[in-house]
Amino acid sequence: MSPLKNKYQLFDEKNNAAELGGGKERIEKQHKAGRLTARERINILLDPGSFVENDKFMTHRCTDFDMQEQQIPGDGVVTGYGKIDGRLVYVFAQDFTVFGGSLSRANADKIIKIMDLAMRMGAPVIGLNDSGGARIQEGVESLAGYAEIFYRNVMSSGVIPQISAVLGPCAGGAVYSPAMTDFILMVKETSYMFVTGPDVIKTVTHEEVTKNELGGAMTHNSKSGVAHLMADDDEQAMMMLRELLSYLPSNNTEDPPIVPCTDDIRREDEKLQTIVPDDSNKPYDMKEIITSVVDHHNFFEIQAHYAKNIIIGFARLDGRTIGIVANQPAHLAGVLDINSSIKAARFVRFCDAFNIPLITFVDVPGFLPGTNQEFGGIIKHGAKLLFAFSEATVPKITIITRKAYGGAYDVMSSKHIGADVNFAFPSAEIAVMGPDGAVNILYRKDELSDEARKQKVDEYRSNFASPYKAAEIGYIDEIIYPKETRYRLIQSLEMTQSKSKSNPPKKHGNIPL
Ligand code: HXC
Repeated sequence: MSPLKNKYQLFDEKNNAAELGGGKERIEKQHKAGRLTARERINILLDPGSFVENDKFMTHRCTDFDMQEQQIPGDGVVTGYGKIDGRLVYVFAQDFTVFGGSLSRANADKIIKIMDLAMRMGAPVIGLNDSGGARIQEGVESLAGYAEIFYRNVMSSGVIPQISAVLGPCAGGAVYSPAMTDFILMVKETSYMFVTGPDVIKTVTHEEVTKNELGGAMTHNSKSGVAHLMADDDEQAMMMLRELLSYLPSNNTEDPPIVPCTDDIRREDEKLQTIVPDDSNKPYDMKEIITSVVDHHNFFEIQAHYAKNIIIGFARLDGRTIGIVANQPAHLAGVLDINSSIKAARFVRFCDAFNIPLITFVDVPGFLPGTNQEFGGIIKHGAKLLFAFSEATVPKITIITRKAYGGAYDVMSSKHIGADVNFAFPSAEIAVMGPDGAVNILYRKDELSDEARKQKVDEYRSNFASPYKAAEIGYIDEIIYPKETRYRLIQSLEMTQSKSKSNPPKKHGNIPL
């Protein structure tokens, strides 16, 4: 064989070895567990043929525990860049077949390299996590690697979108890096996130808990609020990441991409005229209003299973990305509590960081009373949402569909904290509190007959529980027919497109964490 042929052969061998990761047996095991390999995931995630790999032959440099005998080119993480819908993205995918996808110093260096490139080029980073955390054989070097990744997560926050998919059992550092990114997607039945696993918990606290209960996809999507999205399998997960990316700009200096809109911008919906029930204590589904008005009825909901009393997510109006925040009267009457305030506040800040206009639908009876909430710090957590809406400088458009009571009226993107356009449906009730509560307090000392009490409640309702008082003093710009909501929002978005507002210069604010 000629020397050149030899060189090509060696190159082919190394390539094959790198692409085989931990070997056929481990790949089979990964498949049997219902998971794809790192390379298979990347292939589905990116536009066909667009992936360019970096550092394919990088290996670890550890010699403890005879690790020099176990060298696998690529060292358990596939890194590089490619395209999604023709737009540049950086990606790293941990390979569980190589040392359980654990993070070595070399492995960290590969991830750091693409994180730095992503910042320089202003493109999103997508992390496909499938890792047992810091590589135990390497000790402090792998801890250092994690810390350097965490540091970059923080520096990149608000500059480029960072999205994490958790696609296997992730522990230790493998959960902290995703926690600092903008969105976490998990897969039902095959992905887990925990700082320490069930065995450690049993030893320390004597609690018995399964892996799934402790850190499965549903746990983090519904109980802890750590995760934002949930897929049925790896393939669907990759499709969801693509869809999420389609709503986002590549970085904080750009606007989100505009998708040509074929949905009639003046489309009206008669159903909306009667969607808010006459009885103001009756629930209705705010999602019906949202899906009715957005382009092609397409609403990409975030954290659908967590704090359901508030709805957040992305959609488009006339092809432009919007971030939606909406009280959900069909769940806990749409009340604001600790979890819903935190959920919405983080979303508002994300949208503000990435130039995504905020549309807020309001039907809120107030903050949830009770010792649980007070002891849990509702004052501090509710303030997060107030803070987030107040500091947001993106276009802010608000629609009050029914209740806007008390402090919650102020919080939910009111005119007073900088909303640009404030609409109300004729069914809106804007007051310090509901008519029953108000009469109870105002006439506490009077012994009102049932008849007289009812009269006072009706009086209060017609005088205060309406949009007209607020409209008379300019706190509501316009009262609109519900059926016209779509076009009114599109007009407002168009009007606010040139919005230029910045907050006073400062190092950073001090949001009540
Ligand atoms: C080296 C590891 C590893 C690790 C897994 N492996 N985690 N190797 N370092 N951290 C190896 C296993 O030894 C095994 O190798 C192979 O990967 C597959 O792992 P299994 O245990 O067989 O898989 P599974 O049963 O699915 O369990 C996965 C797991 C478990 C839940 C992730 O492996 C586990 O608990 N690993 C340790 C998790 C952990 O404590 N990590 C350190 C966190 S500290 P063989 O050759 O036997 O197949 C940390 C600090 C960061 O990350 C700082 C954060 C602030």
